[in-house]
Amino acid sequence: MLSLKPPFSPHSLSPSNNPFFSFKPLLKPYFSPPQKPHFTSIKSLLQYNRKPELAGTTPRVVVITSGKGGVGKTTTTANIGISLARHGFSVVAIDADVGLRNLDLLLGLENRVNYTALEVLNGDCRLDQALVRDKRWSHFELLCISKPRSKLPLGFGGKALIWLVDALKHRNEGSPDFIIIDCPAGIDAGFITAITPANEAILVTTPDITALRDADRVTGLLECDGIKDIKMIVNRVRTDMIQGEDMMSVLDVQEMLGLALLGVIPDDTEVIRSTNRGYPLVLNKPPTLAGLAFEQAAWRLVEQDSMTAVMVEEEPKKRGFFSFFGG
Ligand SMILES: Nc1ncnc2c1ncn2[C@@H]1O[C@H](COP(=O)(O)OP(=O)(O)OP(=O)(O)O)[C@@H](O)[C@H]1O
Ligand SMILES: [Mg+2]
Repeated sequence: MLSLKPPFSPHSLSPSNNPFFSFKPLLKPYFSPPQKPHFTSIKSLLQYNRKPELAGTTPRVVVITSGKGGVGKTTTTANIGISLARHGFSVVAIDADVGLRNLDLLLGLENRVNYTALEVLNGDCRLDQALVRDKRWSHFELLCISKPRSKLPLGFGGKALIWLVDALKHRNEGSPDFIIIDCPAGIDAGFITAITPANEAILVTTPDITALRDADRVTGLLECDGIKDIKMIVNRVRTDMIQGEDMMSVLDVQEMLGLALLGVIPDDTEVIRSTNRGYPLVLNKPPTLAGLAFEQAAWRLVEQDSMTAVMVEEEPKKRGFFSFFGG
């Protein structure tokens, strides 16, 4: 089994203990020759001093899906969405998980949702009344499809979601740069509805065999639906387990799914803390490991092909991780 390299000390970067796991660039053929390792500092990788340049035509309609439940779709939607908004891109996140919605909770916006998309479609309110603006980043808006615990109404399907996406494109204030759709688990009606308006997808998976099997099935369904631009986020990665050969490595996952890698997110207790606080991880100061990894994934999404995926690892005991950032 292929495995990732051992933990690194950020104070002694050298080719022999390179902390960065270099994967194939996005949108390149999968069986390309192995890349040369990418040697650079984390500061230059994060490029905080410039704004990412948006590639592709807007609005980019991206569905975040997985097949298996609980692998981190909503966490990814919240963090990538807020990260994009923080860089000045206008983002509308649609919570398409009808009945079990929780994106509002992760964003800390649950008390502000007064209307939903169903009420817009019924003519009970205007679209702008159902859009909930984020408290911190006015470029970010949330649209929930329905009230919690309600069932997907019979009339609601892909066509209704396409209508909503079109209405978002033609708002007076202009079309958003990104429309991100948080997909429900499974591959039934809710999934089909959520993927219908999308022209690209982020497949979230964890490195375990059940999630990978579902991810593979979902990849096939996305391709059948005409979505060819599919990138992958491998979530909840634990390098200690990979080293002990108790967890599949990211390269193994990549080989099994054959998808372009958008990001590698470590298993991090801070994610659970941020979920419970309703405060997306990418806003944490000082930054956390998983927050940085989401930030990088957002950069790669915007620029399509400019960065290699990076695994940010915790430094061995001697010095704290954040000393790396000059703290
Ligand atoms: N990298 C991570 N490290 C630790 N915990 C994580 C990580 N990513 C997600 N989690 C936790 O896993 C749980 C499920 O995450 P999330 O709700 O984002 O998954 P989901 O795929 O949207 O689930 P569902 O299929 O039910 O919609 C949450 O409690 C979240 O805090
Ligand atoms: Mg979810």
